[in-house]
Amino acid sequence: MKYTEFGLVNTRAMFADAIARKYAVPAFNFYNMETLNAILSATRATHGPVILAASQSAIKYMGDEMLMGLIRGANIGPDEQIALHLDHGGSVDACIRAIDMGFSSVMIDASKLPFEQNIEITKSVVEYAHAHNVSVEAELGTLSGIEDENTQSNTSSYTNPDDVVKFVTATGIDSLAIAIGTSHGAYKRQSDDEELRFDILQSVAEKLPNFPLVLHGASQIPAHLVQTINKFGGDMPNARGIAPQQLRRATEMNICKINVDSDLRIAMTAAVRASLATNPANFNPREYLGAGTKEMTNVCIDEIKNIMGSDNKLPLIS
Ligand code: G3H
Ligand code: 13P
Ligand code: ZN
Repeated sequence: MKYTEFGLVNTRAMFADAIARKYAVPAFNFYNMETLNAILSATRATHGPVILAASQSAIKYMGDEMLMGLIRGANIGPDEQIALHLDHGGSVDACIRAIDMGFSSVMIDASKLPFEQNIEITKSVVEYAHAHNVSVEAELGTLSGIEDENTQSNTSSYTNPDDVVKFVTATGIDSLAIAIGTSHGAYKRQSDDEELRFDILQSVAEKLPNFPLVLHGASQIPAHLVQTINKFGGDMPNARGIAPQQLRRATEMNICKINVDSDLRIAMTAAVRASLATNPANFNPREYLGAGTKEMTNVCIDEIKNIMGSDNKLPLIS
């Protein structure tokens, strides 16, 4: 099915606008009705573009037809800018499958392979995707943490700025994910003083002027929500994310897509734990899942306004 039939767009116009007006388009991960509703409510309340990101494991969890049924049920209108993006696609086949399902954007993540192999695989995806007017993200350097339930890495390697021009030119990608010290999951830093490698970002941005760069592993892991989780029976004592001021600084340096998954997980978990603990007699999931959806919506609105700066950008002007 072609993505335009769902009212979706690819990421090109939104990235051009984000680069020109120095903000980042949020890419929030979804995997069920609650996460999708929270992301859409926040986006619609703040009038900006958004990327709905689904990993391969999220697609498997929802099932292809249910996923696309949810997207159809979103009733995306012509005045909206909403992309459906495959997050961390692990193979050329996975990307082709997503495009054929109706995704408008794909990430091919061959970042753990040798440079030349990463180029070859990425090129194959670009060839198929561009023939279908679908945008492509690829990655150079690796992040630690869980990138997908099948891909877990305990090591990270920063992006080498000397590689980026050759990679982008040889592959024809539309955006590039870079590794500057972020990581996936809820345990990103030992202390609040740890800085991202802005020197690497600066150097990449100079070598690729006006080219869309992407930051993965960018959740803030809000301390008040971690406290709620721990207060109501959770066990996440050292959870710590990326400081908001560092994320904002990145958006001024050509980072025009910021990926957030863990913050929604934290918000849902905190609200569900609090709801169940304070209403022990309740056994109606609509109540605690409703509380979770509300908390996730709040987190999305906060990040859209205070981190991404993507609010009030519709219609796009650049
Ligand atoms: O960066 C990847 C996301 O956090 C996806 O995680 O495979 O558990 O959906 P997931
Ligand atoms: P977080 O784990 O920081 O939310 O990162 C999500 C991500 O990069 C999805 O691709
Ligand atoms: Zn990621």
